[in-house]
Amino acid sequence: MVDLTQASALVTGGAGGFGSATARRLAQRGAKVVIADVNDERGEALAREIGNGSVYVRTDILDEDSIQHAVQTALGLGPLRAAVVVHGGPPPPGSKGPQRVVNKEGRRIPLAHFAHMTNVYLNSAFAVTSQAAEAMANSEPLKDNQRGVIINTASIAGYEGQTGQVAYSAAKGGIIGMTLTLARDLAPLGIRAMAIAPGTFFTFAYGAMTLEQATAQFGPLIPNPKRMGDPDEYALLAGQIVDNDFLNGTTIRLDGAQRF
Ligand SMILES: NC(=O)c1ccc[n+]([C@@H]2O[C@H](COP(=O)([O-])OP(=O)(O)OC[C@H]3O[C@@H](n4cnc5c(N)ncnc54)[C@H](O)[C@@H]3O)[C@@H](O)[C@H]2O)c1
Repeated sequence: MVDLTQASALVTGGAGGFGSATARRLAQRGAKVVIADVNDERGEALAREIGNGSVYVRTDILDEDSIQHAVQTALGLGPLRAAVVVHGGPPPPGSKGPQRVVNKEGRRIPLAHFAHMTNVYLNSAFAVTSQAAEAMANSEPLKDNQRGVIINTASIAGYEGQTGQVAYSAAKGGIIGMTLTLARDLAPLGIRAMAIAPGTFFTFAYGAMTLEQATAQFGPLIPNPKRMGDPDEYALLAGQIVDNDFLNGTTIRLDGAQRF
């Protein structure tokens, strides 16, 4: 069990649906949480709500210096013991939503679109992971040489893919692919690496819809329970991963048995 009392935790996308639920759960375990996000209003309100030394730090996950500032802020609050990488990011410039590799007009997706998406969902996750791991590596170990745990966020799209989302699926497949190697590389340092692959959850990403509308559209895709996932169900699993030292090197699906 990673003891979070007297320690800090970092949540990128900390003001988001998954991120805010996770920040609350980690704070309940005693961590001082750095809520790293670009949504100042939600981030500051959450830091006030959680209190107890947790802070909002404006952090752009596309900027390594900005990530470093968030990690350094966490270290100023206590040894970094948990990092949950669960940010979203801006859409590709000029994007009009999901698009097949070759569209109806016979035009291919620009490489810049693909590169942008993998930058937001994969490269940035590695940037946060490597910086968090470096910070953990330089901390005093807990029992059994444990120094901390890093949880990335994949998606069931990383397994089954999604029509019109080739770049997103590739990026999330990349998260799944790097998790075991991260765990192996970080094992000598006593740092665990895990990933969660969520199905369909009602977060700010569905901002334009009400929960009722989203449930009516997506609920039927989910065998059981027939509803959208609740972000706190993600946070609950993140907390369980922090607690259980034997969970390492794998991606856990959290999807009510949904397969596209
Ligand atoms: N909601 C789902 O159904 C679902 C399913 C599978 C995977 N996911 C993944 O979960 C992660 C979080 O998504 P969510 O559903 O909680 O969305 P969300 O919109 O509720 O939260 C995303 C957060 O990321 C923040 N963000 C955006 N750009 C950023 C930047 N440049 N730097 C730092 N933070 C930034 C946003 O401000 C927001 O608070 C994403 O990686 C997403 O792909 C979501």
